[in-house]
Amino acid sequence: MQKPCFITLEGVDGAGKSTHFEWMINTLESRGIDLIYTREPGGTELGEALRELLLHQSMQLKTETLLMFAARNEHWQQKIKPALADNKWVICDRFTDSTYAYQGGGRQLGLEQVAKLDNWLDLNAKPDFTFLFDLPLSVARTRLNKNRQLADRFEQEGEAFFKRTQAAYHNRMLADPDRFKLIDSQLSIAEVQTILALSLENLIVNYSDLSRTINNT
Ligand code: TYD
Repeated sequence: MQKPCFITLEGVDGAGKSTHFEWMINTLESRGIDLIYTREPGGTELGEALRELLLHQSMQLKTETLLMFAARNEHWQQKIKPALADNKWVICDRFTDSTYAYQGGGRQLGLEQVAKLDNWLDLNAKPDFTFLFDLPLSVARTRLNKNRQLADRFEQEGEAFFKRTQAAYHNRMLADPDRFKLIDSQLSIAEVQTILALSLENLIVNYSDLSRTINNT
């Protein structure tokens, strides 16, 4: 029997998170982990409709932040919480750390304002483990520019925005170092996967009945 584990992937646009998402899912499934994978904003029918608006429709910053949390509330209540209650693992591309980093930091709403909504929603939805994909912003920009014609509202932002977003991510990591694993996205894909494989293996041991056996002896 496995214990439920909630894993999130975070990082600024262009940090290579998406490249590794599918690989992580395949790796966990090949190790026999029963999981669901999902993303934010999105993950439910309403959430995916909100995603379309959030990525492509201009709006007030407070509206944007409220919609991020609205999508998250549906996502958590309808999909993530029931899966965890069913002992499944959940691997999610972005979660609440993104709102602190992007709206709180990047868009300068302020972390306290994000925390107010977070506390009001009161989901008790903290990830067990978060991979933070990180690299110098100049490299992230070059990677993004390759797909410039497809850029959404966030990807179109400038250097100062991403500096603030990245700084907010770093501060979140420093405040909760046990939850975060910083991944240097400048390494090759193979090197990153070696690091990810080790972390996943540790999680598999910690979130299986094996850990109870070990801890009880
Ligand atoms: P992203 O993972 O970058 O999607 P894709 O890889 O398909 O482009 O996520 C979409 C964008 O949403 C990303 O630029 C960050 C932004 N975002 C926020 O600003 N706040 C949030 O709370 C979340 C979940 C995402």
